[in-house]
Amino acid sequence: MSFNKFEGKVAIITGSSRGIGKAIALNLAAKGVNIVLNGRDQERLDLTKIEVAKLNPRVHTVCCDVSIIEESKRLIDETIEVFGKIDFLINNVGVSMRGNVADVNPEVFKTIFDSNLLGAVYPTIPAIKHLRETKGSIIFISSLAGIRGIPAMSAYCSSKMALRAFAESIRLEEAKNQIHVGLIFVGITDIEHNKEAIAADGSKLILASRKDKKVQSTEYVAQTVFKNISKRKFITVLTSIGRLNAFLQPRFPMLVEKIILKNIHKFEEHRK
Ligand SMILES: NC(=O)c1ccc[n+]([C@@H]2O[C@H](COP(=O)([O-])OP(=O)(O)OC[C@H]3O[C@@H](n4cnc5c(N)ncnc54)[C@H](OP(=O)(O)O)[C@@H]3O)[C@@H](O)[C@H]2O)c1
Repeated sequence: MSFNKFEGKVAIITGSSRGIGKAIALNLAAKGVNIVLNGRDQERLDLTKIEVAKLNPRVHTVCCDVSIIEESKRLIDETIEVFGKIDFLINNVGVSMRGNVADVNPEVFKTIFDSNLLGAVYPTIPAIKHLRETKGSIIFISSLAGIRGIPAMSAYCSSKMALRAFAESIRLEEAKNQIHVGLIFVGITDIEHNKEAIAADGSKLILASRKDKKVQSTEYVAQTVFKNISKRKFITVLTSIGRLNAFLQPRFPMLVEKIILKNIHKFEEHRK
């Protein structure tokens, strides 16, 4: 009989009713992890719950907006009520945006920071005392756009960079309590139909399908998150271009800038 060290662990995955968060939930459920799904739409959560329950019936949904302090606290409290502990908090909620700085309504920055930075800060703070007990993991889902600022995504890039500073501080503060903190820089990934981003004027923007593009699958991203947790690594960078960027950016930032300026049309294409 093989020993599965993940059996019976408890994971909260924020923003897991679809996309990468859902793939992470399915991946962990298949390994016997008890799952707390989160999103703001109960119907969507219920549909995802059915899929997850086929792999592990111990799945609970908490419908709440993690960019609101009290709702994030409820996410943590309800997890403790239902499962009694937290082993993994996976801060996955993140919203993208499009538009050059000159054209962006400043409110867009607030909306993006509310979900991408504060939406990770608010669940993390009340979870820390529980994660100390299990010597668990806090995972932050970042983006290659969090390694270097790129055109037309300034609010998104800056929110993901802020996430890194937050993750670094917690690693140092909680090292003595053996909490693992992981930061995953995800490359362009397949998206579900109707994935939303925020346009320069603050309105909702439906992103074009990436079915015909060479992008990572959500399952692949989920596997790398699992590896990060298993090995208790700090940083995981996905895709070869991502790893090259992570290597060059701190050493040769002007070279990276030149490469981006030369290929700026490709960024235009990816905006869609
Ligand atoms: N897809 C990519 O190409 C890509 C690339 C790099 C990094 N990432 C990062 O990966 C993460 C997931 O991206 P994704 O593409 O899978 O996103 P997605 O398909 O848009 O899914 C986002 C999930 O989060 C939920 N959500 C959004 N705001 C929320 C909030 N305030 N409170 C609670 N739930 C919320 C959504 O459900 P409701 O709308 O029903 O609440 C949904 O379940 C993000 O952090 C993103 O920045 C994605």
